[in-house]
Amino acid sequence: MCGIIGYAGRREAGPVVVGGLKKLEYRGYDSFGFAISGSKIAVYKKNGRISDFNESEFSANGSLGIGHTRWATHGVPDDKNAHPHMDCSGKIAIVHNGIIENYAELRKELISEGHIFTSDTDSEIIAHLLEKYYDGDLLSAVTKTTEFLDGAYAILALCEDEKRIVAARQSSPLVLGIGDGEIFASSDITPMLEYTQKVIFLEDGDIVSFDKSSLLIMNAGKEVSRESELIDWDIDAARKGGFDHFMLKEIYEEPDVFYNAFYFEPEEEFVSKIRDADEITVVGCGTSYHAGLIFRYLMEEYAGMPVRVEIASEASYFKPRPGSFIIAVSQSGETADTLAVLRQAKSAGCTTMAVTNVCGSSITRVADYSLFMRAGPEISVAATKSFIAQVAVFMRLVDELSDKTLSESFTGIHRVIEECLMVDVDAAVSMCKGAKNLFFIGRGAYYPVSLEGALKLKEITYIHAEGYPAGELKHGPFSLLDEDTPVVAVCPEHDSRALMISNIREIKSRGSPVIALGGAGDIDLEEIADVFIPLPKAPESGDIITSSVILQLLAYRTAVAMGRDVDKPRNLAKSVTVV
Ligand code: F6R
Repeated sequence: MCGIIGYAGRREAGPVVVGGLKKLEYRGYDSFGFAISGSKIAVYKKNGRISDFNESEFSANGSLGIGHTRWATHGVPDDKNAHPHMDCSGKIAIVHNGIIENYAELRKELISEGHIFTSDTDSEIIAHLLEKYYDGDLLSAVTKTTEFLDGAYAILALCEDEKRIVAARQSSPLVLGIGDGEIFASSDITPMLEYTQKVIFLEDGDIVSFDKSSLLIMNAGKEVSRESELIDWDIDAARKGGFDHFMLKEIYEEPDVFYNAFYFEPEEEFVSKIRDADEITVVGCGTSYHAGLIFRYLMEEYAGMPVRVEIASEASYFKPRPGSFIIAVSQSGETADTLAVLRQAKSAGCTTMAVTNVCGSSITRVADYSLFMRAGPEISVAATKSFIAQVAVFMRLVDELSDKTLSESFTGIHRVIEECLMVDVDAAVSMCKGAKNLFFIGRGAYYPVSLEGALKLKEITYIHAEGYPAGELKHGPFSLLDEDTPVVAVCPEHDSRALMISNIREIKSRGSPVIALGGAGDIDLEEIADVFIPLPKAPESGDIITSSVILQLLAYRTAVAMGRDVDKPRNLAKSVTVV
């Protein structure tokens, strides 16, 4: 995920673009850059954050500008991979948000035609395609170029010989802001809000040409008109895309996040190394550890392969065996405990792989292989979308190591996750917010789902919550059950259902109220639970995702009802870089 901005207007473009990038920084902050068009195109790009940009380092006059703040996907975060990217002549500049899936073949073709590439990104091919098709009309060149692109893109292009910006949108957000003698284009409305509230949300296939006062929108070769809207968001709310908190925004991104993370092509080399390993061990902390536990159950069930899962801070007390394949899972890629085990494993001669959300993060530099979750920046301290992405990556690996039943059945999962966002959790929230202690229980892969549900709730509400294997509660914790201790039971249609129902009956007879998540239409569950939350119908193992999303919403809504600081819970940090 990256942020882009374009400006054509009566002001100096430089400060508008730089100010806009600062507002888009939440979308990615690996590197930034901009191009300002005056008599020539002047470009500045740099590894690091726009918030650290020193304005005395660059000045260029011009009333047209484009800018980019990057969340690296192809190519490590460094100066050369930062946008804008230029064609060979230096006359055309582009910024791009999205992923060009067929970039490798296009790049090869362009190189064979003599184009010189200066970055490792997928995006640079767009500048060279524009160069190839430019014959004095940037709009036609962009139109022609998009015919060759597979994937997702929001593109802004400048050409030294023209006093306009041309934009294109396909599956990546792009919105126009219509001001008085100025027009903006951006990934979201935040950069334009201080100048105008009149916006146009572009649609897939739209190609737009604009200068400070004229606007032309084309789609499928024809001119189209798009309704403008007046936005009354304040700037701070808009940064969160209209959501009250980043956590809710990030939960709402999960349908796309799952899809992006699940659909990747694993490299045959590391897949066969996993297959041939003497032992497979996953290490991680907190939420990442829980994702590892889910992987263990799925590997056993689908691939028949045992997996060991260790909390990273404890794993260092075990000696890694050479011949093991060690998977370090970490959203940030910087967690010190995880990094320490990875280094230890590496020096013991194990093969290592990182599963992370951050390209260029420390664990990717240590590990032999890296898999990226592609969830985009997660700002709220509580991990939500990154957990869904971790599970998605693990599910894809399981799929690759088994008979591919998951990928076949997951084609409609996007819509199922969207349905979860609409599920009513109000009755459960009322029960949780008054409690001092709670248990979350599940069996099989739903045991780590319940661990994660409990972690989310305790982390942001400060209510004590424990995840437990449902069958284990009677071996001690039963003494804690009473009418003030609700139990959240994750009980979808699964082999464990019958045993879960008898565990729920045991709990009920000790006086604890039960909130049960189960298959829609599960009459038994509906009857015994005090609050029943029906799960949208999902493909096999898809309930791991649906129940996780709903437990995140339960934690979020309970925290809001209790007036907690949801995005920044006390005593915590997003990235834990100390052991
Ligand atoms: C919980 C949470 C933490 C992290 C843990 C590991 O919501 O965010 O438990 O999961 O600190 O962080 P990463 O995944 O960055 O290694």
